[in-house]
Amino acid sequence: MADADTVQLSLPDGKGPLHERLAEAVEQLIASGRYGKGDRLPTHREIARGANVAIGTVTKAIDLLEKRGVVRGETGRGTFVSAPAEATEGYVDLNFNVPMRVVDEAQFRAAAVLAATRLGSVPNGGYPEPGGGRDHRLVVAAWLAETRCPADADDLLVTVGGQHAIHLAMADLAGQTGGVATEAAAFSGAIAAARNLGLDLHAVDHDEQGMLPLDLQRLFEETDCRALYLTPVCQNPFGFEMSERRRAEILEVCRRHDAFIIEDDIYAVYAQSDSRTFKELDPDRVYYINGVSKSLTPLIRLGVLVPPRARRAALAARVRAETWGASPFDLEVARALFEAGVHAKAKDILRAEARERVGLARKILGLASVPMPSGSPHIWLPMATAAAEQFARRALERGVRVTPPDAVKIGGEKSGGVRLCLMAPQQRSSLERALRILADIRSTPDFEIV
Ligand SMILES: Cc1ncc(COP(=O)(O)O)c(C=O)c1O
Repeated sequence: MADADTVQLSLPDGKGPLHERLAEAVEQLIASGRYGKGDRLPTHREIARGANVAIGTVTKAIDLLEKRGVVRGETGRGTFVSAPAEATEGYVDLNFNVPMRVVDEAQFRAAAVLAATRLGSVPNGGYPEPGGGRDHRLVVAAWLAETRCPADADDLLVTVGGQHAIHLAMADLAGQTGGVATEAAAFSGAIAAARNLGLDLHAVDHDEQGMLPLDLQRLFEETDCRALYLTPVCQNPFGFEMSERRRAEILEVCRRHDAFIIEDDIYAVYAQSDSRTFKELDPDRVYYINGVSKSLTPLIRLGVLVPPRARRAALAARVRAETWGASPFDLEVARALFEAGVHAKAKDILRAEARERVGLARKILGLASVPMPSGSPHIWLPMATAAAEQFARRALERGVRVTPPDAVKIGGEKSGGVRLCLMAPQQRSSLERALRILADIRSTPDFEIV
């Protein structure tokens, strides 16, 4: 560790509040390698002197870094680096849709210790019912009710992440539908699940509210497709949120044609409106999916599927045949994190950070508008497909990985573009650096956003 009292900090230019710019400068100092994981940072007074700011500004900056999981304060001992800092060299990955780390090591350790003390009570020595023992289903139902929508523990299945829930829902519908309808581009995991089950995916046109009911109706009239896969909040990859009115219109079309909806609500934590879920609007027509990977941590493989009530038993039998279900240890760790309120704090952090990051992307890339200014973990830059592929290649050459169109493409004119996962870099400064590179690439006429 360097001499603590010789710290010199130059604040990045910009209009943001002083404490945010100071937080960024401290992050950069950590990322430069000067302070590693576990090192003690200079005292607040030394930082104040080195950056030429008031001590109150340092306190606010350190609080912010603590919320982001970069540092932790220990009473009477000082402030320590808790997250390994991202190098400022090397590439920035905006391809993987992971949230920044919001559960720190101490929280995981405490939850794991508590989980270990409770594992003795898991039924059958570790084999609860397929799809979750009742005790764990009650935990998941309470989490859902608190964070999104009411759910009965007897109706749901605990799954191995959201991906497993998608595959289960599609498998359940496979015999009664000629494919699955979705928008022009969709989550790559949903594409993989449909392919695995031999289901065709149909692209339905959309606007900034979501899928167009008339286009859906046409598809139902022309084909025997009777299933939809939708991500109504932060559609992946387009990043829009569907209004309740549009949901009601889509449901109306589905009722007329006796079609089912797979509602992937994994990004519910970012909802900007108070629209009810499809599940609340028509429970027996909807396979509802959620999980903790985007709102808490992908390190716990915990998802949930709430199918139409009549399909639960058949789906539990399917889970029995495939995996038996999520690991009881994961579930106990999740339970301990919920009890400690980590999910509620994570929600505040993620929402606030997503709003900042979307704002940053909008400013640096010069976007006239974004579908969810209140914050979405990803945004989409629409371009002709060939231009988008070239853009992704050019970005990679310059150290920024983005999602190319072929990873998410279903079909139709609107499927060209690249996705940027804004929450993936742990530090906002890494994102900013990546966005400046992308803005530079975009400024050449080949990459005009359409
Ligand atoms: C829309 C959507 N659904 C589901 C998942 C997968 O969730 P999990 O990691 O819980 O399996 C993802 C992951 O990127 C996603 O974007």
